[in-house]
Amino acid sequence: MTPRLVVLGTGFGAFSLLKNLSPSRYAVTVVSPRNHFLFSPLLPSTTVGTIEFLSIAEPIRTAVSYANFVQAEAVGLDTSRKVICCKSVFDGKEFPIEYDVLVIAVGAESNTFGIEGVKEHTLFLKELAHARAIRQKVLDNFEAASLPTISEEERKKLLHFVVVGGGPTGVEYAAELADFFDDEVKAHFPHLVQDARITLVEAGKQILSTFDERLSRYATKLFQRRRIKFIMNTPVKKVEAGKVYLSSGEVLETGLIVWSTGNGANAFVKSLPFQKDSAGRLLTDRYLRVLGEKDIFALGDCATLQDYTQPATAQVAMQAGKYLAKLLNEVSAPSKAEKDIAPFERQNFGMLAYIGKDEALADLPFMKWSGFLTWIFWRAAYLTKLVSFKNKLQVLFDWIRSRIFGRDISRF
Ligand code: FAD
Ligand code: NAI
Repeated sequence: MTPRLVVLGTGFGAFSLLKNLSPSRYAVTVVSPRNHFLFSPLLPSTTVGTIEFLSIAEPIRTAVSYANFVQAEAVGLDTSRKVICCKSVFDGKEFPIEYDVLVIAVGAESNTFGIEGVKEHTLFLKELAHARAIRQKVLDNFEAASLPTISEEERKKLLHFVVVGGGPTGVEYAAELADFFDDEVKAHFPHLVQDARITLVEAGKQILSTFDERLSRYATKLFQRRRIKFIMNTPVKKVEAGKVYLSSGEVLETGLIVWSTGNGANAFVKSLPFQKDSAGRLLTDRYLRVLGEKDIFALGDCATLQDYTQPATAQVAMQAGKYLAKLLNEVSAPSKAEKDIAPFERQNFGMLAYIGKDEALADLPFMKWSGFLTWIFWRAAYLTKLVSFKNKLQVLFDWIRSRIFGRDISRF
């Protein structure tokens, strides 16, 4: 009988695995609450309309037609019976799916650190739905601030945008928002230019702390020139509707809070009885097998190698997915991987980040670049990395459209 392979997730790790897997080797079922792959590196650009939402999404049924797709969330695992308990995203009903080989690639969740009010009063930036909510709120705030009935105090509050977390997500979002101010707000809301403000709050002493220090300083200077206010060394300790409470005692009044303080463990991963690192990621051996398990693999943001910690990036998840496809295609049995195949070795290709005003950073293993040419490199690199020809055309078209006609400011 063809062995049953169940893949949990439709993100970078799962997608790269599914694209490289030999379709005849396994009967594949993909389980995920999201029915599409999302190219998150360009997600910040969709929050202001530089790129449209569907240009960076690829339906899983179109991309991986050989697999059976089930739109549900994994909520439990019984290793003795080799059964995954799934919960429908539509009616919440639970049902089992049996597996012979299981791949856990469920990613991570936005970390709130349990800080009061974050879930209720801030927006994350991880999924298309988040980007759409942010875009709608930005446009709503500018329209509401233009009403004749608005008080000056309320207008200033609506147009104060707070980004919490100065990692690459927060920085790239703030950069896109500042571009939106420079282009669309100046052109279509000129009466509001003076009141529109961005504040970036960071608990540590620098933004982009995983990048080379010179590049981080370069981005800081560019942001300062663009009137993005920094509040450094200051963790947020509480959030209420329209209010951010800082550890310094200061309270920021704001019309939108984007929360980007990094990854926390996914609820399903938290429920699993396997060994994890201090960040709650599943520990695997060098063949990506969950420690102590023969037929369960884990990769991407929800996992890391034992003794060899991995960054939580798309780059690593994609490499791991490709490696696991090779392993599952070639080995006689997953439990005997070490006999047939070399262990997983991550290659570091460096990091890229957009910092606004047609400038980017490239922290490559042998080169540190910043500025306009790096931005061209950034665009070229992500255009090639997009997973379908359709997405590449759509993104290219969006860049040209937004450059010539401006970003669309319709609210729907
Ligand atoms: P994900 O891509 O997050 O996918 C997880 C999948 O699991 C999703 O389909 C989800 O719906 C599904 N899932 C969740 N829970 C369950 C469950 N219980 N059962 C079944 N399925 C489940 N990295 C880079 O290398 N370069 C970049 O430029 C970059 N830019 C980024 C920009 C932003 C705004 C963000 C948020 C991240 C960025 N990253 C970047 C990080 C990158 O997106 C992640 O490292 C990558 O997505 C991890 O891949 P993954 O497959 O582990 O998880
Ligand atoms: P991150 O973990 O990289 O950064 C989060 C930031 O939030 C940190 O600087 C931290 O000090 C700060 N922070 C934490 N708690 C805080 C608090 N209470 N108040 C204020 N600040 C607080 O998270 P991010 O940016 O969401 O990235 C997640 C992952 O995705 C990382 O692995 C990152 O490398 C990857 N990524 C990569 C990108 C790229 O390569 N261009 C773009 C976006 C994400």
